[in-house]
Amino acid sequence: MKNFKNVTILNHPLINHKIAILRSADTKTKDFREIVGEITTLLTYEAFKDVPTHEVEVQTPLEKCKQQMVVENSVAVIPVLRAGLGMVAGVHTLFPTAKVGHIGMYRDEETLVPHEYYCKLPEGVENMRAIVLDPMLATGGSAAAAIDLLKKRGCKDIRQMSIIAAPEGVETLATAHPDVKIFVAVLDRCLNENGYILPGLGDAGDRLFGTK
Ligand code: PRP
Ligand code: URA
Repeated sequence: MKNFKNVTILNHPLINHKIAILRSADTKTKDFREIVGEITTLLTYEAFKDVPTHEVEVQTPLEKCKQQMVVENSVAVIPVLRAGLGMVAGVHTLFPTAKVGHIGMYRDEETLVPHEYYCKLPEGVENMRAIVLDPMLATGGSAAAAIDLLKKRGCKDIRQMSIIAAPEGVETLATAHPDVKIFVAVLDRCLNENGYILPGLGDAGDRLFGTK
């Protein structure tokens, strides 16, 4: 895959360990959901490195000092339904004041073209950093469409956070939206003929919600 300046692949041993458990067909819904949350928290640590901060004065038991704190109401996370919902709690663990917007999107199983069916964004989202959450970046169609929608609503500072990406999806998204920083935990090999990521983990929505 081409080297994209706006793409960060974490590829960290602690994350890779958790990915191995996620991939396993033997991992049941409860553990799957917990690990999606944990990996999301680790992704958040990386993707929020340059989150807006402001200086406050704190009185320690010994003296007064200046300290940076994050600016509340500066970030909105936008899970793409359904599977993105599984990542929200993992962000809130580190950044509890993140607002949450929802975009409903499903891929047509034949054409793999994404279709939007729901959109509810926080008031003032255009002035916030908007972070799209979706564990799977496969063809990249759903993420690109979600970001198109956010741009139409006036968002200017947009990021994408995914757990597993296919090279095809990263290329599509990074080319369509070169201004969007993309954070992924691991990069997989390729897509299969049905648009599933290989080796992947199967259908993230079904595994999170126990629907199959
Ligand atoms: C999955 C996944 C992404 C999308 C990725 O959702 O959660 O949203 O596919 O594929 P793409 O990169 O090729 O667009 P799906 O459409 O299966 O809907 P679901 O979450 O409701 O199961
Ligand atoms: N959506 C998923 O849930 N898994 C894939 O491998 C591709 C799209």
